[in-house]
Amino acid sequence: MRVTRRVAVGLPFAIAGSYFAVGTAAAQTATPETIKIGIVIPMTGVQAAVGREISDATKLYVTQHGDTVAGKKIELIVKDDQSVPDTAKRLAQELIVNDKVSFLGAGLTPSAMSMAPLATEAKVPTVVMVSGTSIVTERSPYYVRTSFTLGQQSGIIADWATKNGSKKAVMVLSDWAPGAEAGKVFAQNFTKGGGQILDTLKVPLANPDFSPFLQRARDLQPDTLFVFVPAGQAGTFARQFAERGLDKSGIKLVGPGDIVDDDDLPSTGDALIGVVTAGIYSAAHPSQLNKDYVAAYQKATGHRANFISVGGYDGMNLIYEALKKTGGNTDADTVVGAMKGMKWESPRGTISIDPRTRDIVQNVYIRRVQKVDGAPWAIEFETFPAVKDPLKEAAN
Ligand code: PHB
Repeated sequence: MRVTRRVAVGLPFAIAGSYFAVGTAAAQTATPETIKIGIVIPMTGVQAAVGREISDATKLYVTQHGDTVAGKKIELIVKDDQSVPDTAKRLAQELIVNDKVSFLGAGLTPSAMSMAPLATEAKVPTVVMVSGTSIVTERSPYYVRTSFTLGQQSGIIADWATKNGSKKAVMVLSDWAPGAEAGKVFAQNFTKGGGQILDTLKVPLANPDFSPFLQRARDLQPDTLFVFVPAGQAGTFARQFAERGLDKSGIKLVGPGDIVDDDDLPSTGDALIGVVTAGIYSAAHPSQLNKDYVAAYQKATGHRANFISVGGYDGMNLIYEALKKTGGNTDADTVVGAMKGMKWESPRGTISIDPRTRDIVQNVYIRRVQKVDGAPWAIEFETFPAVKDPLKEAAN
């Protein structure tokens, strides 16, 4: 579906009128009667899938949990930054000054980075719902993350690979901050485990053509290919991977969860069967809570829930539970204080907010893509519980 800003932002609120209150003058007081949450995400452009997933998941949360918390009305406002950092900054400014939001939701790494000084200056608690780069939460004392870091997953898959016979790897990385971080942590652990990195190939972020990079990687004759592509690109990657015959080459494909994104996985046929990843979420996670989440998400959106969606869904839970704790007080220091150390059951498993770093602590699962009832799913077979961001832990 082509998603325009008008359709994506205006219409759902009009349709779901009973769920989303209209802002009132009272919203301008310290503890407003209507609490506004302004989420800045790409609803159009090359990374629009990410925006759709966050928008859908946050709305699903409000639909399921109601639009009133601690006696206050909740109003969600979604703004399309087209994944342009300057646009994200301008929109965040407008949300703070004009809409008087009590919370911000931050999306992709470059946008989250550009919004951070505003959140700090205006003292707006901000939930980082997408970004997977370690440094982002250090950019503002009011940033709290419900997504993931690439390091959380990349070190664990490197250890798994060397323990399972990998000796020579080529890294294929999307050329931006999360890709650099995935590569850095993978390489650290892979070499520590006795492996060797033959080469690092960087693929442009926008509209990537993976074919020449895959050909180059194959020519280097590695036993293992470590790949990071961001949400929205796994389908294209899988097709070009199979077209090059790499799925039958005997080279082991591994990565963080992004390469087997559940949003794309159903359309990848046999291309990714057998691929092993370390990820924070699989739609196949066998808890009852997750089965209910996947069913509700599918019904509401027509899509399989993915690892991006849980960042939005859990981000809303963090805001709701913090407001319950503060009795509806939206003062930034009080709210962030309430968020620190919070722990709850998510569709992905138990998660918590590290009180020291405001970063997410979560299980990382090793999963293998297998067909179940004719469709590919990432099936978990090993769990690393309560994993922190390794780059922050190393710096501590
Ligand atoms: C990010 O913005 O850091 C990001 C986005 C999508 C991903 C991974 C990281 O799949």
